[in-house]
Amino acid sequence: MSTPKILVTSAAGKTGLPATLQLLDYGFPVRAFVRSYDHRAKRLEDAGAEIFVGDVYSIADMRKAMTGVQRAYQCSPTQTNTLHAGAVFTIAAKEAKLEHVVMLTQWTAAANHPSIVSRELWMNEQLLKQLPNTTLTVINVGWFAENYFMGVLETVSQLGIWPIPLGDGDEKKNAPPSNNDIAAAAVAALIDPVAHAGNTYRPTGPVLLSPNEMAAIMGKVLGRTVKYLDAPDWMVMKALISQRFPASMVAQLVIYGEEYRRGTFAIDAPNNVVRNLTGEQAENFETITRRIVAERPEAVRTIGNKLKAVWNFMKVPFTFGANPEVIERRAEHVLLKSPTLNRDSQEWVDSHDSAAGFVPDRPANAHSPALLAG
Ligand SMILES: NC(=O)c1ccc[n+]([C@@H]2O[C@H](COP(=O)([O-])OP(=O)(O)OC[C@H]3O[C@@H](n4cnc5c(N)ncnc54)[C@H](OP(=O)(O)O)[C@@H]3O)[C@@H](O)[C@H]2O)c1
Repeated sequence: MSTPKILVTSAAGKTGLPATLQLLDYGFPVRAFVRSYDHRAKRLEDAGAEIFVGDVYSIADMRKAMTGVQRAYQCSPTQTNTLHAGAVFTIAAKEAKLEHVVMLTQWTAAANHPSIVSRELWMNEQLLKQLPNTTLTVINVGWFAENYFMGVLETVSQLGIWPIPLGDGDEKKNAPPSNNDIAAAAVAALIDPVAHAGNTYRPTGPVLLSPNEMAAIMGKVLGRTVKYLDAPDWMVMKALISQRFPASMVAQLVIYGEEYRRGTFAIDAPNNVVRNLTGEQAENFETITRRIVAERPEAVRTIGNKLKAVWNFMKVPFTFGANPEVIERRAEHVLLKSPTLNRDSQEWVDSHDSAAGFVPDRPANAHSPALLAG
């Protein structure tokens, strides 16, 4: 029997790119679904991937992308219209009779969540579970380590300020996972569906960290003092919108920030999922920070970068449009009458927190989440 071909969606993205490279290293043929042919696609092609340029919202493109493919990594782009991408993927996967799918979802995904993206990811998972001939592994990730640098790396490296609304600086509220480790968890399931079908894995970093601890690690890597600033939501929203982050995603980030401050991402973290799936210890925050700093030109301390950081900081108050409700109404997002944050949902806590009695679906399976988290 020939080696199964694997489709990776969002292949130029944070987890799709390392997942593609890791699968190629394991000797699997990979079709990498990208939005456009650029330097990232070239890198994947040079490593041996077959590049497919298309639109994940187009059923015609997805059908073509799945031709001759047996397994797939479903990773919806970080934007709204997640359900559209998921439905297109699921319809095409059914027609192509894929044997196994690994789906990336969120720790916050829930039917009644205030974030439309979290609700739609929950729906995508339910849709994939309906496929009669396809097994599923769910990668259920909390707050990525890379988020901490979103739109602020310049401010951190040039001005020594880390403005982000994470609440009390000393509370340890996340064990941030690296993109490589999230990808490695997905890859483990893609290369061995029999061992991982039906399971849900939540890769975390090795330790829970507080904002002040993370700022100290950033400072160590950058060789300067970095001070955590518990910035208000409106300020961070304005900063991201002024840097052209899509407003509808920025409105979702405000909701995830609220979950963060309430400790949703600290539940059942850290765990040993990465080590148990890959045999390697999960990457720590210093390693992740070193990689990000080495890759991004705005982290280099120059007069030009400093002036740019000051200018970007100064223009924040003059940016309009930082009202999440107005943004969501303008985008005509479905807004629930009584949504519930996961931290306030007993149903969610009971199904995610082992301290609240959560027992995984398949305790008898040697690869069950309980053992993997052990
Ligand atoms: N960040 C977090 O903390 C977090 C936590 C849990 C779950 N998640 C979930 O993770 C998923 C994102 O994963 P990721 O961060 O690995 O991906 P990502 O970096 O956001 O990459 C998404 C990729 O999709 C591409 N894309 C966008 N629109 C497209 C289209 N219409 N057709 C084809 N390709 C398109 C983008 O192309 P370009 O690069 O060319 O724009 C990008 O390369 C989301 O579903 C998010 O909800 C994120």
